[in-house]
Amino acid sequence: MLISFRLIGSRVKIGESLNSVQHKLNLPPRKIQSLLWKICRELGLFLLTCFMWTNSKYASRNGAALSSSSSYASAASVPRSEGEILESANVKAFSFNELRTATRNFRPDSVLGEGGFGSVFKGWIDEKTLTPTKPGTGMVIAVKKLNQESYQGHREWLAEVNYLGQLSHPNLVKLVGYCVEDEQRLLVYEFMPRGSLENHLFRRSTHFQPLSWNLRMKIAHGAAKGLAFLHSDKAKVIYRDFKTSNILLDANYDAKLSDFGLAKDGPTGDKSHVSTRVMGTYGYAAPEYLATGHLTTKSDVYSFGVVLLEMLSGRRAVDKNRPTGEHNLVEWARPYLTSKRRIFRVLDPRLGGQYSLAKAQKAASLALQC
Ligand SMILES: Nc1ncnc2c1ncn2[C@@H]1O[C@H](COP(=O)(O)OP(=O)(O)O)[C@@H](O)[C@H]1O
Ligand SMILES: [Mg+2]
Repeated sequence: MLISFRLIGSRVKIGESLNSVQHKLNLPPRKIQSLLWKICRELGLFLLTCFMWTNSKYASRNGAALSSSSSYASAASVPRSEGEILESANVKAFSFNELRTATRNFRPDSVLGEGGFGSVFKGWIDEKTLTPTKPGTGMVIAVKKLNQESYQGHREWLAEVNYLGQLSHPNLVKLVGYCVEDEQRLLVYEFMPRGSLENHLFRRSTHFQPLSWNLRMKIAHGAAKGLAFLHSDKAKVIYRDFKTSNILLDANYDAKLSDFGLAKDGPTGDKSHVSTRVMGTYGYAAPEYLATGHLTTKSDVYSFGVVLLEMLSGRRAVDKNRPTGEHNLVEWARPYLTSKRRIFRVLDPRLGGQYSLAKAQKAASLALQC
């Protein structure tokens, strides 16, 4: 089996984790769907309790996140040709020159982030005409530019146009357009002012204050709603790259999933999985997927559990700078999560006393179920 990973971190030790998840392999897809909805529901309830419990300054903003509006335009359909995908995408086809102007020639000091695909630049366009405008005026955009040496960039680029060009939901980032010109491949998204969850959780700088408990729960809830929508019958998509760098935050800390380069159509008919090359990110990919190449919506749910654990602990899924035995977050945290008294060993010390024991236990138990 060809294993191709976008981010090479430490190798996942799958032996031990396999046993504990193997029994889940028999679960029918409906069960998984209901687990995701359960996550959404429980996180929703959880948030409600948070609001009643504290009068924090974020309470009113969080309340907005609870009103679940899940409108969508249309769903991705059967595999289509490149021409069909580009034609049916409800987005603008930009010229390379337009995007060069909008980003001021891809200025290095306007880089918003980097990923396996390439760099993401900040730019400005007119809201109505979608043509480049002066910096600071009109609508802010994020322009992702494929590295020329990116190994499978074109395929990922097309997958993003395919899915984000069709799917629309409050917890998915909006695609504004794309550009295909000679070897150039670019994607244009709405700008997400608070950047990625990864930066908020793991970047130590004065620019990023530690996220409060309430905000972490709000973000987890939003991301779960995005994932549940993807798995729903309306979309039937497996996301395959659920991780903190792909969860973006708007001004109100509403979470939106971005980066659909690895997304796949889910299984059709009564099939439980799709067979694929194993791709994803070490530390987030489900052990049974790594072992078999069988991709199911359960693989996304596993990754959700890893992200929830990262949010609870403030630790990365894989961190080689930690002492031996603590490199892999899931393996390290698992025994603590099942213990009522030792659960505090896992929780991020930066959270202080912002949560009750009951809430911590509930969140930990959700992560374990994933
Ligand atoms: N719409 C956006 N608004 C703000 N920052 C973004 C946006 N899209 C991406 N970024 C930043 O760029 C990083 C890489 O983007 P991503 O789409 O994940 O690229 P890749 O496919 O290379 O992983 C993100 O982690 C984030 O920090
Ligand atoms: Mg990414």
